[in-house]
Amino acid sequence: MDKIIEIKNLTVKFGSFTAVDDISFSVGKGEIFGFLGANGAGKTTAIRAICGLINTNSGTISIGGRILGTDITWLKKRIGYMSQKSTLYQDLTARENILFSASLYNMDKKEALIRMKELFEYVQFDGDENEIVKNLSGGTKQTVSLCACLLHNPDIIFLDEPTAGISPVSRVSFWNLIKKLAQEGKTVFVTTHYMEEAEYCFRIALMQFGKIIVLDSPQNIKRKTKCDNLDDAFVEIMNS
Ligand SMILES: Nc1ncnc2c1ncn2[C@@H]1O[C@H](COP(=O)(O)OP(=O)(O)OP(=O)(O)O)[C@@H](O)[C@H]1O
Ligand SMILES: [Mg+2]
Repeated sequence: MDKIIEIKNLTVKFGSFTAVDDISFSVGKGEIFGFLGANGAGKTTAIRAICGLINTNSGTISIGGRILGTDITWLKKRIGYMSQKSTLYQDLTARENILFSASLYNMDKKEALIRMKELFEYVQFDGDENEIVKNLSGGTKQTVSLCACLLHNPDIIFLDEPTAGISPVSRVSFWNLIKKLAQEGKTVFVTTHYMEEAEYCFRIALMQFGKIIVLDSPQNIKRKTKCDNLDDAFVEIMNS
C-alpha cells in the first residue's frame, strides 16, 4: 500500500507537559486508520499537529511525500478535518453552515450549492437543509459536519470521534459512509472509543500517555493477545 502519511518522531508539548511523545507511523492510501486510547492519551493533539493546526516540538510530518512546513495552503486542499467538538453554528441552518464552510475554501455560492446537493445525496442526508442545526438529531448533525469537511473533495479525511454520543443506528450509518469513502480511495484517519468501530479499521494505533504502544490490524492484535475481542486485548496490552 502506498504511504500517504508518514510521521517520524513527532513530539508535541504544552509547556513542560508532553502530550505526544516521539511517535512514528505511516498510513497507507485508501486505508481506514484508527487512533484509540484513553481520554488524554494524545489522539486529538497528534491529529491537530498532522493537520498543521498546532505547532510541533520535533519530528517530521509528511503528506503525499511532501514534508509539511509552512505550506498550509497546499495541505488544506488535500485534507478534510472534522474536529472532536462540533464546529457547526447551532443557530444557522444546515445549508448556511455548508455555505459558510465553502466560503473558507473560496468556493462561490453556486458551486457550493451544487456540491452541497451532491454531498447530501452521498450521505443520504435525512434532515431539512433549512432547519437550524440545533434542531437536528445528533446523527444528522454529524453528517452535516462530514459534508462540510468533504466540500473541497480532500483525499485524506481526519475524523476525530465522529460518532461520539450518537445512537447505535446512526453510528452504523456513519461507518457505512466511512467505508464507502475508503472504497473510493480516500484515506480515513479516525478516532473512536467504540471497540466495535475499531474492528472496521484496517490498522489501529493504541495510544497511552502520548506514545503509541501498539500498532497492528485488529485481527493481529486479538491473535497476539489471544483475546476474542479488542476490549480484552487492550486491557491485556495496557497491563503488560
Ligand atoms: N491546548 C492545550 N494546552 C495544554 N494542554 C493540552 C492542550 N490540549 C491538550 N492538552 C492536554 O494534552 C493531553 C492530550 O490531550 P488530547 O486532547 O490530545 O487527548 P485525546 O487522546 O484526544 O483525549 P480524548 O479521548 O478525551 O479526546 C491531555 O492531558 C490534555 O489535557
Ligand atoms: Mg480527543
